[in-house]
Amino acid sequence: MEYSKVCPWWMGYMLLVPIRKFSHNPQKILSPYLKPGMRVIDFGCAMGYFSLPMAQMVGSSGKVYCFDIQQKMLDKLKCRAEKAGVREIIEPKLIAGNESDFEGMEQSADFALLFAVAHEVPDRKKLFADLYRMLKPQSFLYFAEPPGHVKKEEFQQSVSLAEQAGFNVLGPANVSKTHSVILQKL
Ligand SMILES: C[S@@+](CC[C@H](N)C(=O)[O-])C[C@H]1O[C@@H](n2cnc3c(N)ncnc32)[C@H](O)[C@@H]1O
Repeated sequence: MEYSKVCPWWMGYMLLVPIRKFSHNPQKILSPYLKPGMRVIDFGCAMGYFSLPMAQMVGSSGKVYCFDIQQKMLDKLKCRAEKAGVREIIEPKLIAGNESDFEGMEQSADFALLFAVAHEVPDRKKLFADLYRMLKPQSFLYFAEPPGHVKKEEFQQSVSLAEQAGFNVLGPANVSKTHSVILQKL
């Protein structure tokens, strides 16, 4: 698999800057969807800007499955989760484009976040099909892309791929200066 547009690991630190909370406040963005005890996915988690708040929201009876293709991102995620006291809620998953990447995850998740990731994924048709398979029926996929990297038309193309995978578009998501949409697995 060719991963040519991937965010370099050191950029992961930039994604953690505190000022980001003004535009991407994890609590504000995700609290309408997450409840204690949920099993949720942070797909393309990097160093866990969203994963840690997600872990706090689902609590000790929940799980956050954190997928990424870069081990360095996941290593830093693990350190941060340890420090924040949520390590046992976080499940880091290194994926490599293999059949086994999502083994045991079929219809297991209550929610998935796909934030600023899809434009880095070469096969977006497969990406949405994989997310569809992992989610339980009726659960939500929060999909967002940065306008600096992704034109409106490209975002719409991705949304169409998500619809082809079986998702239903519910409407725009609650995040500023970002292409975003809430999708639901039918
Ligand atoms: C721009 S960062 C966004 C990180 C995080 N979602 C956030 O908003 O802070 C994109 C992340 O997606 C990961 N990524 C890229 N392609 C991926 C793929 N095919 N599967 C899983 N993760 C991928 C990258 O390694 C990187 O950590």
